[in-house]
Amino acid sequence: MSSTTMQALVLTRYGGPDAAELRDVPRPRPARGDVLVRVQAAGLNPVDYKTREGMLKVVQRYPLPIVMGNELAGVVETLGEGVTSFAPGDRVFARMPKEAMGGLAEYAVVPEKFLAKMPASIDFNAAAGVPLAGLTALQALRDELHVGQGSRVFIPGGAGGVGTFAIQLAKWLGAEVTTTASPRGRALVEGLGADVVIDYTTERFEEQLRNMDGAFDLLGGETLLKSFSVVKRGGKVVSIAGMPEPETARKDLGRGVALRALFWLASYRIRAVARKHGVSYRYLFMHPDGAELAELADLIETGAIRPVVDRVFPFKDVADAFAYLESGRAKGKVVVEFTSPPA
Ligand SMILES: NC(=O)c1ccc[n+]([C@@H]2O[C@H](COP(=O)([O-])OP(=O)(O)OC[C@H]3O[C@@H](n4cnc5c(N)ncnc54)[C@H](OP(=O)(O)O)[C@@H]3O)[C@@H](O)[C@H]2O)c1
Repeated sequence: MSSTTMQALVLTRYGGPDAAELRDVPRPRPARGDVLVRVQAAGLNPVDYKTREGMLKVVQRYPLPIVMGNELAGVVETLGEGVTSFAPGDRVFARMPKEAMGGLAEYAVVPEKFLAKMPASIDFNAAAGVPLAGLTALQALRDELHVGQGSRVFIPGGAGGVGTFAIQLAKWLGAEVTTTASPRGRALVEGLGADVVIDYTTERFEEQLRNMDGAFDLLGGETLLKSFSVVKRGGKVVSIAGMPEPETARKDLGRGVALRALFWLASYRIRAVARKHGVSYRYLFMHPDGAELAELADLIETGAIRPVVDRVFPFKDVADAFAYLESGRAKGKVVVEFTSPPA
């Protein structure tokens, strides 16, 4: 590999695991306002395999081939014109721009506004798993559910990438947290501060819970539909795994009436169930944000929250990392690390 190329995971077409392959590609160059980062570790998220499968084409269509990867941690290599907040050598992390991706590569170009300095107390592998799941949980709990002191929040599916942040952030915001987990995840979610843990393999949460102030749904499907019955009238359910609704198109995607109409139809049944229970429904698409990521870095630095890394794979085994995440059993985050020193 020359000093102008790099290894990257490239999406060549939409499809199964072999639609993404490791290739040598040109190193990107930072444009005005961008930072070139030498990537040390990259987090994986369900959005990566959903993108590969083409499930998100209705909201994001990529020109193929394209370098995959939605979050990273690394070291600032060079700065584009006009960048003032970072310097070469800084240890940084970021949620990549949705329309560009590019985190699963030895080098990545990140807009300055999406970047933050990593907490000094954690390593690159731990930092790489923070941006996407951490920002999702923060935006859902604080900005959409308005969780505060004494709120009673239900978070079904607490043991995964988003759930492990959501439990901790809800506790930090002052909430009483109820979550669901299998026996495999119980010790983890209890250790993160969950007040009540319901074993979803043997118990029905809808028979045990009433009058929650809100729910943050990480699972969609039947779990989402049942969540409305455990939230008090006037409360709210925010999902990141159900069906997008019209507000998703307007607020999160900045799109017009056509997508709003499509999402209105797609979410019809969910909104009908929500209405029946007097509860509002919102589907959130998280957004990258460097300032909010810096807030998460501070929370990690002060010990208010901690990233949970389940497994770390070498970059050459990224296919195995995808397969593990796709099993749906991850406890916390799945991360790939770049060990070979780039030329
Ligand atoms: N809209 C957005 O902006 C956005 C952002 C981030 C994520 N998401 C979506 O949110 C979802 C969760 O993401 P993630 O990163 O947290 O996924 P993940 O890490 O793959 O979640 C895996 C965890 O889910 C648990 N789980 C599976 N089925 C369960 C059930 N029926 N009840 C309770 N827990 C269950 C598993 O526990 P066991 O092994 O113990 O079963 C496992 O620990 C995904 O669909 C993802 O695409 C959306």
